[in-house]
Amino acid sequence: MADIDDAVWRELRSEAVEAMRHAYVPYSRYPVGAAALVDDGRTVSGCNVENAAYGVTLCAECGLVSDLHRSGGGRLVAFVCVDGDETPLVPCGRCRQLLWENGGPDLLLAMPSGVRPMSEVLPEAFGPDHLQRP
Ligand code: THU
Repeated sequence: MADIDDAVWRELRSEAVEAMRHAYVPYSRYPVGAAALVDDGRTVSGCNVENAAYGVTLCAECGLVSDLHRSGGGRLVAFVCVDGDETPLVPCGRCRQLLWENGGPDLLLAMPSGVRPMSEVLPEAFGPDHLQRP
């Protein structure tokens, strides 16, 4: 597992908290912020954005992935998301799939249980490799 400095985790956590403060959550009142380190040293972030048609809600990770591509692409290497108490939060199932696509098995996540690689957070994942037919 690649090592990420504690200072980097702290910075990502504070960027996630900052993003969380911009969440648009009139329905759930459950703000989420996410931040990640990209393989070229950039950081990207996102917050959840809800909708009156509840199912259309965008999770914080959706905004983060959009920020990744908007700002130049690359691969996610370290990821944090936080809830309204500023404590680490697990990404939902759909967002684990989004993170897999953009970081792969080695992406490190600050989970409530500690730092875990994506390969543990989404084992036996479906991904881009499955579409490579002979
Ligand atoms: N939420 C996220 O933004 N990311 C997750 O991984 C879990 C859930 C949001 C969606 C919704 O706005 C609120 O949390 C409550 O489900």
